[in-house]
Amino acid sequence: MKLLLLGRNGQVGWELQRSLAPLGELIALERQGDAGGQGLCGDLSRLDELARTVRALRPDVIVNAAAHTAVDKAESEPEQARLLNALAPQVLAREAAQTGALLVHYSTDYVFDGSGSAARTETEATAPLSVYGGSKLEGEQLIQASGCRHLTFRTSWVYAARGGNFARTMLRLAAERDALNVIDDQVGAPTGADLLADVTAHAIRVVQGAPAGPRRDELLGLYHLVASGHTSWHAYASFVIEWARAAGQPIRVAPEAIRPIPTADYPTPAQRPLNSRLATDKLQQAFGLQLPDWQQGVSRMLTEILGR
Ligand SMILES: NC(=O)c1ccc[n+]([C@@H]2O[C@H](COP(=O)([O-])OP(=O)(O)OC[C@H]3O[C@@H](n4cnc5c(N)ncnc54)[C@H](OP(=O)(O)O)[C@@H]3O)[C@@H](O)[C@H]2O)c1
Repeated sequence: MKLLLLGRNGQVGWELQRSLAPLGELIALERQGDAGGQGLCGDLSRLDELARTVRALRPDVIVNAAAHTAVDKAESEPEQARLLNALAPQVLAREAAQTGALLVHYSTDYVFDGSGSAARTETEATAPLSVYGGSKLEGEQLIQASGCRHLTFRTSWVYAARGGNFARTMLRLAAERDALNVIDDQVGAPTGADLLADVTAHAIRVVQGAPAGPRRDELLGLYHLVASGHTSWHAYASFVIEWARAAGQPIRVAPEAIRPIPTADYPTPAQRPLNSRLATDKLQQAFGLQLPDWQQGVSRMLTEILGR
């Protein structure tokens, strides 16, 4: 199997380099290309060159982990967000439709307006609140409209041990400050990039290994993919800080000084959904998986970053 990965240096892309490697020949590109001087284009903003690269490589599977993920910045550069999150996936989808390749793509809980408190299923109405959410939704729709074989995974609150993340920021602030204010009215599931990558590899293996026909086609489409359970940013921060305190890390802030605040007290250019709960029954049933609780992955990430 030949696999093309785009966005290899992002949180999810980095983990995909690991999880996809055993599946076959993996060509992993970053924005600057392949660093191997083969003239391949991994830049999602160069649509013609991107299409030429896919045509030249003829992969069996295209995994797109690249995106415009700067949610607040997207508000002031909607055309760039649309180019990367909608038009580039459309190009990948068109190429996949031509050759029968499988396209794997990632979308977001931000396609919803976040009203209510129930976990949303894949069939529920979308209503993005932000430019980022709108551009990701358009990407989903253009992939669907292309008719290509695809798996689109909507996820939320992604973290990875590598690079900056919410837990690292909380740990730094908790060591420096006597008090912290953290939003407590946005609820979602922190989801590890490693979990996303592992489930992606599993799903690709299942789909590509199944005999062609209607049963295999039923596996394709849109899925919600997040860790089990849910929490608020405030409870997430408290979990991380108390875990680190118990591990003997230098924590200055007292538990009661981690103060819950409403989203309204922390205005940002992009509006975020309050309820980011996503129902994952469809994915778990289709692929025979059991998604672990969010605390499991966060504890593992903390063990990695704190070297414990
Ligand atoms: N992070 C979250 O909380 C979250 C939540 C829901 C859904 N998602 C979705 O999950 C997927 C993976 O997200 P992530 O968290 O791994 O994002 P990430 O860490 O921000 O990585 C995004 C990657 O896209 C690359 N990129 C940006 N512009 C590009 C361009 N013009 N051409 C090629 N590559 C470009 C970046 O490369 P550079 O390093 O060169 O900029 C980076 O490697 C995305 O589809 C995202 O929308 C993420």
